Amino acid sequence: MRKNAPRLPFNVISLNPDAPVPLYRQLYDEVRSAILAGRLKGGNKLPPTRELANELGVSRNTVMAAYDQLLSEGYTEGHVGAGTWVTSTLPDEMLQSRPTPARAPRGSRMRTMISKRGERLLSVLPPIRQQGAGKMLPFRAAFPDLASFPFEVWTRLLAKYSRNPSHDLFGYAHVAGYPRLREAIAGYLRSARAVKCEADQVIIVPGTQVALELATQMLLDPGDTVLMEDPGYFGVRGVFICAGARVVPVPVDNGGIRLDVVNRNSEHARMVYVTPSHQFPLGMTLPLSRRLELLEWARVSGAWIIEDDCDGEYRYAGRPLASLQGLDSENRVIYTGTFSKVLFPSLRIGYLVVPPDLVDAFIVGRIMIDLQPATIPQAALADFIEEGHFTRHLRRMRNLYAGRQSLLLETARAELSGLLEIQESEAGMHLVGWLPPEVNDMETARTASQHHVLALPLSAFSLEPVARGALMLGYTAFNEREIRAGVRRLKTALAEAQRAKVC
Ligand SMILES: Cc1ncc(COP(=O)(O)O)c(C=O)c1O
Repeated sequence: MRKNAPRLPFNVISLNPDAPVPLYRQLYDEVRSAILAGRLKGGNKLPPTRELANELGVSRNTVMAAYDQLLSEGYTEGHVGAGTWVTSTLPDEMLQSRPTPARAPRGSRMRTMISKRGERLLSVLPPIRQQGAGKMLPFRAAFPDLASFPFEVWTRLLAKYSRNPSHDLFGYAHVAGYPRLREAIAGYLRSARAVKCEADQVIIVPGTQVALELATQMLLDPGDTVLMEDPGYFGVRGVFICAGARVVPVPVDNGGIRLDVVNRNSEHARMVYVTPSHQFPLGMTLPLSRRLELLEWARVSGAWIIEDDCDGEYRYAGRPLASLQGLDSENRVIYTGTFSKVLFPSLRIGYLVVPPDLVDAFIVGRIMIDLQPATIPQAALADFIEEGHFTRHLRRMRNLYAGRQSLLLETARAELSGLLEIQESEAGMHLVGWLPPEVNDMETARTASQHHVLALPLSAFSLEPVARGALMLGYTAFNEREIRAGVRRLKTALAEAQRAKVC
C-alpha cells in the first residue's frame, strides 16, 4: 500500500549552501538516512519535486538530481508523472539504523569471530607502530625524500602511457609483470647488485610484504620452522606467523645473524630470513665468511634463504655490496627488492627473483594473490629506468642522504650527549641511538611522540627482550631545518623520559 510521506522528515531537512558537499548530495544523504533509519518506510510517497524545492528554497533541478540518485541506487521507485515512493522491496533488516561499532575490544563477540590465523596476525603489529602510522614527523624511518623526486619526468611518462589505450596496457596481461620492466630490473640487479638472473626470474609484486606472502605460500607448510633475525622487520614476521610457521628468533651481533644459533636450529628449518646488506634495523653488514657459511647451511639442510634487500642501494662508503644471491650456486636464495625506498612507497612496486625451477609455480601462486600488478606505472617505471632517470635519481639521493646522515649525527652528538648514544652507519636510511642502560625504549618513544617526534623503539622489532633500549632515527625524508628542530624536541623528550626514570 502506498502512503504519503509523513511531513516530519522533510521539515527537519536543512541544507547548507556554503558546505563543500553539493546541495543535491546533501538532500540525497538526508532522505537516504531517513529510509535506512526507518523514518521513511517502504511505500511512503516522497513530495513532488516542485513542492519540495519550494519548501527547501532550492532549485527543482537539485531535488530532481537527488531523487535520480535515490532511484538509481534502488532506495525509491517511481514512474514519470506518477510520483516517487520509498521502495517496498528492501529487506526489513536493512531498514534499521545500526550504530557503526567502534573497534571491537579483545574478547568481544566480534573478536571471537576472527579466525585463529587472524588473531595471530593481530598479535604482530606493535601498538607503537600503529600510533605513528601516517604521520610525517621527524625521525620517521625508511621514507625517501619526496621533494627530490623528479615528478615532471614521472608525470610525463604516466601521461604517455595513459593516452594509449591498448589491450597490452589496459587489459588483463603480464601476470608476472610488464615484460620491459622485468628486463629493466634484471639488468639493474645484475650490474648494481650482482644478482644472477634473467628477466623471466623476476616477478613483480606490490612490495616486499606480498613478495614474502608469495614465497611463504609456495614454500612453507603450517608448523615448519623459519629462522629470522632478531631484531627484525615485524611485517615479515607477521607473514610467517600468519602462515602457521614456527618463528625462531636468531640473535644478531656485529656481523649480523649468528650462524652458531642458525646451526643449532637446523632441524625442521625450512627457511631463514636475512637482510645481509644492511641488517634491519641495526644496520650491520653480513661479512663474506658468514654469507658463504649460510649458503652452505642452506645447501646441507635443504632450507630456503630469503634475502630482503630493501635498502641495499643506500651505501655511503664504497660501492654497494654484492648480493648474497649472487654468491649462491645451489639456487637456494629467493631475493626480494622494492622501489618504496628508492622512489616512493605508494608506488607499490617490488619484486622477487626466484630460482629458475620455481618460476612457473610462483607465477601460479602470484595469480592466486592477485591477477597482476597495475600495468601503467610499470610501463612508466620501465622507461624511467631505461632512460637513465633511475640511476641519476639514486646517485643524487645517495649524496643527499649521506649529507643528512652527517648532519643528524653531528647535531645529535652535540645536543644529546648523555641522553642518547648515536651510532654512525655506512648504509641505510636511519641511525640507531642507544639509550642509557635501564631506560625503557617503548616508554621513551611514547614520550617522544608527545613531543611530535617519531622514534621507533628497538623493542618493537624484537622477539626477545632487548639487552639495551634504542631508538630508530630516520633522516632521509627531512631537510636541515627539520632535522635540527627534531633533535631539539627529541632532547626535551629524552630528558623528560629519563627524569621520570621510565624503566
Ligand atoms: C626490512 C624491510 N623490508 C621491507 C619493507 C617494506 O617494503 P615495501 O614497501 O616494499 O613493502 C620494510 C619497510 O620499511 C622494511 O623495513
